[in-house]
Amino acid sequence: MNDDILKVLYSKDDIDAITSRLAEQINRDYAGKNPLVICILKGAIMFMTDLVRKIDDYVEIDFMDVSSYGDETESSGEVKVLKDLDTSVAGRDLLIVEDIVDTGRTLSYLIKMFQTRNAASIKICTLMDKPERRIKTVKADYVGTQVPNEFVVGYGLDYAEKYRNLPYIGVLKPAVYQE
Ligand code: PRP
Ligand code: MN
Ligand code: MG
Repeated sequence: MNDDILKVLYSKDDIDAITSRLAEQINRDYAGKNPLVICILKGAIMFMTDLVRKIDDYVEIDFMDVSSYGDETESSGEVKVLKDLDTSVAGRDLLIVEDIVDTGRTLSYLIKMFQTRNAASIKICTLMDKPERRIKTVKADYVGTQVPNEFVVGYGLDYAEKYRNLPYIGVLKPAVYQE
């Protein structure tokens, strides 16, 4: 295990089981709908690629890069669009894929934006949810798991751009961000 990790919250196998369960629900709800799956970079990259491989019907994939954290552990409250979609969302059924919903700022911003762009429907699939931290009202339609208010990294999630490539999700040792 990486020296900066206090404990593993979700192993590779745990993540695989969660992803399978979510994909089953999505398969039921989106059969024949050709949704546009929107991966919110960078955190959702691992989750999105694993999830779509478990979706039976054909889906389209696009990427949006937004950032609200900078290198801090606390959200700045400001959402920046670093890369927009290539695809038009007008009339499309959108499935936004996130790694974690924390304050809800990122998703509340994106939902408003996609509504303005006249999406036909907007649903959210998140691997993790931290409802304790919510500032903006956001409710995900598909939630992998609720996590306690601890700093989680790995499987796409970073602290200061590190740890994204860990194959598991772990709790970061507080000493790492208190330095
Ligand atoms: C993180 C995470 C979510 C968002 C959740 O992304 O991946 O996208 O914050 O926080 P919120 O609910 O408080 O908005 P971040 O902005 O760190 O960018 P990254 O995905 O590139 O790491
Ligand atoms: Mn993110
Ligand atoms: Mg981040």
